[in-house]
Amino acid sequence: MAFIEWDDSYSVGHAEIDAQHKKLIAILGDFFDALKEANATDAQATLLEEFVAHAREHFAYEERELQGVDYHDLVSHRRQHEAQLVMIEEFYDTFHSDKRHRCTLMIQFLKKRFLDHIKDMDMAYARYFNRVKA
Ligand SMILES: [Fe+2]
Ligand SMILES: [Fe+2]
Repeated sequence: MAFIEWDDSYSVGHAEIDAQHKKLIAILGDFFDALKEANATDAQATLLEEFVAHAREHFAYEERELQGVDYHDLVSHRRQHEAQLVMIEEFYDTFHSDKRHRCTLMIQFLKKRFLDHIKDMDMAYARYFNRVKA
């Protein structure tokens, strides 16, 4: 079984956001696979850079979309994004430290937080989008 896989139950019904979630899931999966290759350090570092950049862009995009529809829960949603970015930065720092071995455990937490956020917080605005569109 793949480390992390897109599942239609993650769809928020917004094509661009779904595409961004899929991309993040794909990069995280590739990064996890690369982590298992002890001598793939350059590939690992590149994938991690890519994940950090895409996550930042995605959160900012999502927040702009939510702002555009006056989403009532934007403040707490943004706070969760910020908390995720802190976690991603900690992960990044660990990867670039002499404690890199911790990354295999940390990535499990990162995956869980990321998917839980889609299933809870992102799904909540998906329902809101549907009401606004209706
Ligand atoms: Fe999201
Ligand atoms: Fe979100």
